[in-house]
Amino acid sequence: MKKSISLLLLSLLMITPSCQKPKEVTNEYNIVPQPNQLVPKEGRFELSNKVRLVVPSDAPEVKKVADGFAEQLKQTAGISLKEAESVDGKPAISFVLQEGMPKEGYKLSVTPTLITVTASQPNGFFYGVQTIYQLLPPAVYGKELKKKADWSVPAVEIEDAPRFVHRGLMLDVCRHYAPIEYIYKFIDLLAMNKMNVFHWHLTDDQGWRIEIKKYPKLTEIGSKRIDGEGTEYGGFYTQEQAKEIVKYAGERYITVIPEVDLPGHMLAALAAYPEMGCTGGPYEVCPRWGVFEDVLCIGNEKSMQFLEDVMAEIIDIFPSKYIHIGGDEAPRTRWEKCPKCQARIRTEKLKADKNHTAEDRLQSYCMTRIEKLLNSKGRQIIGWDEILEGDVAPNATVMSWRGSAGGIKAAQLGHDVIMTPNDYCYFDYYQSEDTRHEPFAIGGFVPLEKVYSLNPTASLTEEQAKHILGTQANLWTEYIPTSEQVEYMVLPRMAALAEVQWTQLEKKDYTNFTTRLAGLIGLYRRDGLNYREPFRQQADSTATEKK
Ligand code: ACM
Ligand code: ZN
Repeated sequence: MKKSISLLLLSLLMITPSCQKPKEVTNEYNIVPQPNQLVPKEGRFELSNKVRLVVPSDAPEVKKVADGFAEQLKQTAGISLKEAESVDGKPAISFVLQEGMPKEGYKLSVTPTLITVTASQPNGFFYGVQTIYQLLPPAVYGKELKKKADWSVPAVEIEDAPRFVHRGLMLDVCRHYAPIEYIYKFIDLLAMNKMNVFHWHLTDDQGWRIEIKKYPKLTEIGSKRIDGEGTEYGGFYTQEQAKEIVKYAGERYITVIPEVDLPGHMLAALAAYPEMGCTGGPYEVCPRWGVFEDVLCIGNEKSMQFLEDVMAEIIDIFPSKYIHIGGDEAPRTRWEKCPKCQARIRTEKLKADKNHTAEDRLQSYCMTRIEKLLNSKGRQIIGWDEILEGDVAPNATVMSWRGSAGGIKAAQLGHDVIMTPNDYCYFDYYQSEDTRHEPFAIGGFVPLEKVYSLNPTASLTEEQAKHILGTQANLWTEYIPTSEQVEYMVLPRMAALAEVQWTQLEKKDYTNFTTRLAGLIGLYRRDGLNYREPFRQQADSTATEKK
């Protein structure tokens, strides 16, 4: 039955008219990201109501993971595992705690009589379970009962642990708002790909999307804009909704890192509180895309107080170690002319030198001040690579987006880095050079293979590479108005990214990845996900050549 599902998937792929014939599915260990050690074995473990579920008695969080797995099996396969204290020679799924395993790592051993998941931490067990799901029929991901599937697991020995600690994906909900229901779905996709960070870009020129109780106009006014046709466009998340998301993500070992982008990209906030800008406004929540001159007035102590108040509420909603405070694309033009900003430059003795203007240093002053505040609350800041233009806030982690150079420089300076170079990781870029069959996008070209080819530590010494916490992709949504289009832009590129994030460099193999991708594509189809046909690239290129 399992084989026939694979064959069915394969034949479906082969008859898709616009697609190049995919590589033959050579086995059924279609696990993405590729485990670091996988040895296929003979035979299968059959799931049934007789199978025992054995979990360490003194590990409630591990039990939660095991219970979640059992619940999912019950719902989709109609199989109820029997809780037991020991395996006792019976068919069983056993969760075993073992000290000293790599953080987030797990071992999965499947024989015809026993499945053993071994880890030292709950998230290791969670990833072991994600791997088991990928060895089961796709129905296991659903909510409906599907008794007529092959509910068995092929025998295998797996030893696995991630390459990077930061494995993320960013979603911009400012240019286009994503309904809260979709955020849950997005997090499910992250979990399936063993990602552990959801970077939530919550504020920008085109909308302020998170409730801040001390400044209600941020959402009353700042979450709405008037679009070209004169229609109102808006949406925001209440603090309660955001806390529910944090909880849901946490149950999947995903940290939500919020981004409040400052001191640029702040028109929505300025529209709500014009006194925070250098000119005093009036400002509007911006219906256009780009980089705008009106930014926060750093000379105005009220603006700084505003930032500190906002951060106090943000850290109350989001327990993440890191808070992203943006720092990108903040023009200096208003500060150059603003008496308050110039006064701040004087009182803080911010000096120009051959590399930086006094206004560059004014931005650094702002970032450092917010960093100090967050550090005092036990948090760390992340900033886009523009924060290197000036004096980098001392403990900042740098997110390198304008290529990798900023990240390399930051690592050389001893800062931690998250690599998200736009030429590999900007999922708002086109997936095909021939854009005729693609939804209109911002530009660029980042096909699946390009994403896969990223090595975040390339050109770094071993010592510098230690500063690379990991990598993520960013989905800016200027030209992505719907959740369906979000999905089209991330699927299946996020699968390629997952392998960059998780799999050791020497185990990566793009051709092999494309064969394993067939399993995921089956899943996307089953769940009605709006993915981009991954093998269409060659067909498009051929069409272009024939023109
Ligand atoms: C960015 O793309 N402005 C970080
Ligand atoms: Zn000013």
